[in-house]
Amino acid sequence: MAKINETKKMTFKVFRFNSETDYLPVYKDYTLDIAPGEVMLDVLNRIKWEHDGSFSYRRSCRHGICGSCAIKVNGKATLACKDRVSDLVETFGEDLVI
Ligand code: FES
Repeated sequence: MAKINETKKMTFKVFRFNSETDYLPVYKDYTLDIAPGEVMLDVLNRIKWEHDGSFSYRRSCRHGICGSCAIKVNGKATLACKDRVSDLVETFGEDLVI
């Protein structure tokens, strides 16, 4: 699979559920420009800051120690603050589901 060597537009499919409006969970797409070296926590932060303020997740140390930022990407357990988007693209291709 191709590595990310320059800023690249990517769409992330994110599993969402709002108990006040949704009967069932849904996947929503968020498109972001991803720079080389960005980690999944950068993606989560930017989804919240740039697209949807209701998007919530946990994080604490940002050094791969506490485990608070554990998420699944394409079914693989990852630490969002540690795993680079480019490494996940290399493993799974550009269709990443969070
Ligand atoms: S924020 Fe602590 S392991 Fe990621």
